Amino acid sequence: MKPIRKAVFPVAGMGTRFLPATKAMPKEMLPIVDRPLIQYAVEEALAAGITELIFITGRNKRAIEDHFDRAPELEADLEAKGKQVLLEAVRGVLPSHVSCIYTRQPQPLGLGHAVLCAAPIVGNEPFAVLLADDLLDADTAVTRQLVDAAHQHNGSVLAIQTIDIQDSRKYGIIAGTPVDARNTRVERIIEKPAPENAPSDMAVVGRYVLEPEIFDVLRRTQVGVGQEIQLTDAISGLLNHRPVFAHRYVGDRYDCGSKEGFFRATVAFGRKYHNLSLD
Ligand code: UTP
Repeated sequence: MKPIRKAVFPVAGMGTRFLPATKAMPKEMLPIVDRPLIQYAVEEALAAGITELIFITGRNKRAIEDHFDRAPELEADLEAKGKQVLLEAVRGVLPSHVSCIYTRQPQPLGLGHAVLCAAPIVGNEPFAVLLADDLLDADTAVTRQLVDAAHQHNGSVLAIQTIDIQDSRKYGIIAGTPVDARNTRVERIIEKPAPENAPSDMAVVGRYVLEPEIFDVLRRTQVGVGQEIQLTDAISGLLNHRPVFAHRYVGDRYDCGSKEGFFRATVAFGRKYHNLSLD
């Protein structure tokens, strides 16, 4: 498999669960303690060796572009005031060898459609997809775990975790045959099934390494659950052409697309990384 150099960040969702906070900015700019969600996702991608970041933006793209751009006035001000630590924090948002590309999803037609918007930029090579509202805290970046599994097994790889089957309607659910301790060859994948229809308790979370063949399938994918073009449905189609594996990652996940997950992440990261306490 070719090296995986590019990562796609779909950030064009409506973020309705966080309205009115997300009225004028993407939910991926909501901060956990001192960094926006998107920065955690970008740092995870960089830790996996990604050098090209592709953002699929929607109505409110400015905040994300500005976040990853230089801020000359702010930097000059911090420098003049001798605020070195903050200056490094601002400058260090993105290393200089990394490039950013922004493209617009004209309408929020679904995650699959958002990923398809990256096709001309990704071209004919495997790529990662990271949904920043899934915040993953891991010793080895979860995207790195997926990249390694993709090279080992020579196919696409989806991050999975086991869930309470009652929550199956929130996820894509897979079924397949285990190939080793952490990897399963996917044979079926279904978006948001009712618990009685879920083929297993193995749920896909917001990290993927996909082969470029996914784009052809996405072009043919019709609207699915929620009247959206679903990435899960395209992955189901990809199973007919290329191997797909599910990787049970090592790490903790916070669903920051929900208020409860966001709150949990804030408390956990405050305690773990910022020495903050609620006592
Ligand atoms: P969600 O399913 O969480 O939807 O999207 P949402 O619109 O962002 O949030 P709610 O449910 O209204 O609160 C999962 C991911 O896919 C992106 C989102 O930005 C998020 O990262 N997405 C979703 C797009 O980029 N475009 C879409 O059309 C839909």
